[in-house]
Amino acid sequence: MRKFLKWVARIAGLLLVVAVAIFAFGWFKSSAGLERSYVVNDPPLAMQRDAATIERGAHLFATRGCADCHAANGEGRVVLDAGPVFKVVAPNITPGGVVKSYSADQVAASIRHGVKADGHAMVFMPSAEYSGMGDEDTAALVAYLQSLPASSNDPGPLEIRPVGRVMYALGQLPLLPAEHIDHSPRSRTAPPIAATAEYGAYVAHGCTGCHGANFAGQHVPGTPPSFANARNLTPTGLGSWTAADFRRALREGKRPDGSAIDPFMPWQAYSKMTDVEIDAMWAFLQTLPATPTGK
Ligand code: HEC
Ligand code: HEC
Repeated sequence: MRKFLKWVARIAGLLLVVAVAIFAFGWFKSSAGLERSYVVNDPPLAMQRDAATIERGAHLFATRGCADCHAANGEGRVVLDAGPVFKVVAPNITPGGVVKSYSADQVAASIRHGVKADGHAMVFMPSAEYSGMGDEDTAALVAYLQSLPASSNDPGPLEIRPVGRVMYALGQLPLLPAEHIDHSPRSRTAPPIAATAEYGAYVAHGCTGCHGANFAGQHVPGTPPSFANARNLTPTGLGSWTAADFRRALREGKRPDGSAIDPFMPWQAYSKMTDVEIDAMWAFLQTLPATPTGK
């Protein structure tokens, strides 16, 4: 009996050593990633701060997901506490928050490149979805953020916990959008605002983080297994839908059969999009090849 217990103790000890080694590897690998820095050198934005520009910025803030994570007034909030994996906290981005000392171009770099003013890669903020945002739209968004009343709210630190670090080290958690963004300096021009497939492609780029680069749906990377999969938006998925069905889905969160769309799909933000934006995305989705649903 004693011999047996000795073996159990040895095996338990060995497992502990292995576990510690895995966590140490995760910690080391993720720290190296988190400390990586990038140079952003886009041409300076032409900033305007007239009422129409601020209004455009407010519209983008409300409809492109920013308000969902950073709260309607930009003061930040806890987005998701996934126990041992991570706690996603979107910071206060009013002039009283983390961007207090940022220039307009530095705020733009965090939005489009996922890179902080000190050059470090940001985590979780879906900058890849915003990397193609036109210069005028970006300038309007930044002007709007800089026009917000300064808030002193502190939603607390973002935490990548041990399991999250190991997942990142094993390539299972896409933590750093900057790793997948083109950082070459360039100007970006958005297509004219109209209900065209071209403008729809521009707007719908913001759907790719969840629905996948080919819009064929997938389990949203980094979310717990219990979260609903983003659905297939190519004709394979929405083949029998009409433009009116699509509008209703985004405006009311209802499918053609009347069933409710899971609120993890940020339709409440999209419900504030204009008819032109929604119709443009519909026109664009119609041009996609029918594609089998992703995993
Ligand atoms: C899925 C949630 C999410 C969405 C959507 C989102 N953000 Fe963020 N954002 C974050 C998180 C998390 C951070 C903190 C990143 C870090 O500290 O590494 C952040 C950080 C920032 C920062 C501060 C960067 C810095 O240098 O510290 C700015 C500015 C910002 N976001 C603007 C925006 C804007 C504008 C939008 C919409 C176009 C947006 N965010 C959409 C989660 C989000
Ligand atoms: C934060 C992740 C996320 C983003 C961003 C997102 N979606 Fe979704 N979407 C989902 C999820 C998850 C579902 C499935 C919900 C369910 O099963 O009830 C979904 C479902 C849908 C549906 C219903 C499809 C069906 O067959 O029932 C439509 C339409 C849709 N999304 C359109 C869009 C469009 C257009 C955008 C961009 C403007 C977008 N989504 C952005 C996560 C997202």
